[in-house]
Amino acid sequence: MAIPPPPSVPPGSPPGQVPATASSPGGGAPPALHAASLRRAFGPMVAVADASLALAPGSVTALVGPNGSGKTTLLLMLAGLLTPDAGEIRVHGMTYAEHGPDARRRVGWMPDTFGTWDSLTCTEVLTTFGAAYRLPAEVARERALGLLQTVHLAEYATAPAHVLSRGQKQRLGMARALIHAPGVLLLDEPASGLDPRSRVDLRRLVRSLADSGVAVLVSSHVLVELDEMVDDAVFINRGATVVGSPAPAMARWRLTTLDAAALTSWASSVNLPLAADPDEAPVLPGAPSAGTFVVSLPDESQAAALLRDAVRAGVPISRMSPAGGRLEQTYLAMETDRR
Ligand SMILES: Nc1ncnc2c1ncn2[C@@H]1O[C@H](COP(=O)(O)OP(=O)(O)O)[C@@H](O)[C@H]1O
Ligand SMILES: [Mg+2]
Repeated sequence: MAIPPPPSVPPGSPPGQVPATASSPGGGAPPALHAASLRRAFGPMVAVADASLALAPGSVTALVGPNGSGKTTLLLMLAGLLTPDAGEIRVHGMTYAEHGPDARRRVGWMPDTFGTWDSLTCTEVLTTFGAAYRLPAEVARERALGLLQTVHLAEYATAPAHVLSRGQKQRLGMARALIHAPGVLLLDEPASGLDPRSRVDLRRLVRSLADSGVAVLVSSHVLVELDEMVDDAVFINRGATVVGSPAPAMARWRLTTLDAAALTSWASSVNLPLAADPDEAPVLPGAPSAGTFVVSLPDESQAAALLRDAVRAGVPISRMSPAGGRLEQTYLAMETDRR
């Protein structure tokens, strides 16, 4: 997917004014965004208790957590739109307290719901934000038109933004977040309200932005979708980030057979612990003996061996697939609470 090139006049401050970024502990590329021990309360409600994360340039990181776990509050602080009660945020080495405008110009923010003004056209929404980031008018206009094409809204360029559907507004919100070619992109539930085609487009756009060096943090509760686009994950529970790996030691597989009795008797003969699938669809009238089961296996070669042995033993397996993605499995394995 084509992304308009960065503005010819870079929105950030000239080289030399940017303070040196602390090197990462491992000696690799310094993070584009680094947050340590963030906390934010609203009265007695502690929305974010202790959150830390680092975003590498050119990577996509998932922000995963149940409803009310503090994702939006954390993203607002990272975007410089909400002041933390404690902790530190550095964007390319700069803090919002010391280098507010310069730090903000390096961050693009897409809220979970993008409100628009009734009177502005889609192009004007984008050029207005371009002006706020001090892009020259011509540069802002050129980028606005390019980005409207990127998010497939070119035909609405002169239409009032309020006529857009929810999904189209989300896409305009994405274009808005990119108007100043930020090096860090923060997306809060970007896929909500998008149709399947637009979700695929979003994934491709996020991936191509990362390939061009942007550090992306994306929150979503649709874990399977995130699984396909992220390199890394940060889990958050009750306002605290949790160290977790998106690849669990044991992966769950879903097995469907045309003959449940044959599968269960073979499984017990080889000591394979099978569990009935809790999400199993009702058995179809035409296949009364069919059944779906879940099994945990340490790796893919074990999964391949299981399939080979079951088929050799004459068990009619009609389907075998991972039961949920890596993120979903890690998420379910964590002690998380909704609130
Ligand atoms: N402005 C606010 N005033 C009071 N409580 C808030 C405010 N914003 C968020 N909260 C509370 O903080 C918690 C975390 O909210 P939020 O960051 O929106 O979570 P998430 O995005 O993960 O669903 C929730 O319990 C929410 O009700
Ligand atoms: Mg939220």
